[in-house]
Amino acid sequence: MQFAAILAGGSGVRMGNPNKPKQFFYLGDKPILVHTLEKFCAAGCFDGILVLTPATWIQQTKDIIAKHCPQYAGQVAVIAGGAERNDTIMNAIRYFEDECQADDASIIVTHDAVRPFVSLRIIEDNIAAALAHGACDTVVPATDTIVESLDGELISSIPNRSVLYQGQTPQSFNMRELRETLESLTPEESAILTDACKAFVLRGKKVALVRGDVSNVKITYPQDLRVAEAMLEA
Ligand code: CTP
Repeated sequence: MQFAAILAGGSGVRMGNPNKPKQFFYLGDKPILVHTLEKFCAAGCFDGILVLTPATWIQQTKDIIAKHCPQYAGQVAVIAGGAERNDTIMNAIRYFEDECQADDASIIVTHDAVRPFVSLRIIEDNIAAALAHGACDTVVPATDTIVESLDGELISSIPNRSVLYQGQTPQSFNMRELRETLESLTPEESAILTDACKAFVLRGKKVALVRGDVSNVKITYPQDLRVAEAMLEA
């Protein structure tokens, strides 16, 4: 079985509007989250699709889905995310295991709600890679030179750019393996995790690369939304 978790549980601090998380901002004629959700619903390859939002936004999210994509409302569930991104992912795993009969072979595709330009090709490649390898990350080759500084003042190293990639989402996993990996983390390890693939890497588990796309942008700052508007019109 294959499941999709749309991660919309963040509060969008860097976007600068404390009253409204960025995933609910309009992009063109509908909220960012709706653009993203439509890509997953249209893919037609999931046994369950879940949107995880801040607890106070659950009803509004249901209303938004009913208004903007009523044709998909029946196949999408909405529940609360968690305090950190990986907590949101754990809530998704529990939901799929408890409510959707996810089994040991089930795949979970996790995707940032604020990457509305994800393509069907990327989603399908994620499912194939998660089935084949147990875990995968969507990446694009690094275009800027990456400079490492351990003290923030002097360069400690400049890694060879040809082996560096920038992480996007989706990130997809064998669901049981992901749950066991996240549950195995100490509080110290959890604190340094920025994403679920890093937990796999910390545990020495293989994570395959899926080719992403430069258009699969993440909306983080207000200027990203202006870029996304321009991409929508192009
Ligand atoms: N996310 C989530 N649950 C959290 C934190 C983040 O589902 N507890 C989601 C966000 O809603 C977003 C994605 O993870 O779709 C990527 O995170 P990021 O861009 O960092 O979003 P925010 O945490 O909302 O942004 P900020 O760090 O500016 O507050």
